[in-house]
Amino acid sequence: MQITYYGHSCFSVQLGGKMILFDPFIHYNELAKHINISTLHPDYILLSHGHEDHIADAITIAQQTGCKVVASWEIVRWLNLQGIQNTHPMNTGGKWNFDFGTVKCVVAHHSSGLPDGSYGGNPMGFVITAAEGNLYYSGDTALTLDMQLIPKWANLQVAILPIGDNFTMDVADAIEASNFVQCATVLGVHYDTFGFIKVDKEQAVAAFADAGKTLLLPAIGQAISI
Ligand code: NI
Ligand code: MN
Repeated sequence: MQITYYGHSCFSVQLGGKMILFDPFIHYNELAKHINISTLHPDYILLSHGHEDHIADAITIAQQTGCKVVASWEIVRWLNLQGIQNTHPMNTGGKWNFDFGTVKCVVAHHSSGLPDGSYGGNPMGFVITAAEGNLYYSGDTALTLDMQLIPKWANLQVAILPIGDNFTMDVADAIEASNFVQCATVLGVHYDTFGFIKVDKEQAVAAFADAGKTLLLPAIGQAISI
């Protein structure tokens, strides 16, 4: 499975010959300014929730590419009002078979207001099952016992989890989350972008290693194979 990291909680995965982009926040991310979003050609954008640091570039990229945007019913309605029509609304607990694999929307404990104050519905995580392997992107969330359900639905190759604390789980909770979802390989996201979420990366990697896990922290723009 090929994953490219674009900073903060934005990454893409290649599945079934499609590029799926998650939570685009690139142009407005000081750390990701070297990435030119007009060079990205996703087939899908998946949005975990409505916060600006997860959707800031979604409209621009959707307009540039005509890709399909998958998000909560409320975020999709908000996008539709802004002229983005190639959308697929979902909600927590539901799944849908796309041409790259199956997306199941799972619980995330967070909030989801949109930038203009509109209601964004519930925040979500995604469990994706595909021919190349299965992945879980938790979105912004607290550690939650609901994560223990995920191994019932998918044998995960990688879990993409926030580690930055303050708004989400910290490193210790992300390690516990990786236990709950029974996955030994974690891609850490949602750290270092702002002052509130600075992380000691060496310490984070060591903490995961002590727990018998691997924490991947690719550079912004780096592609990795898992
Ligand atoms: Ni958020
Ligand atoms: Mn966030």
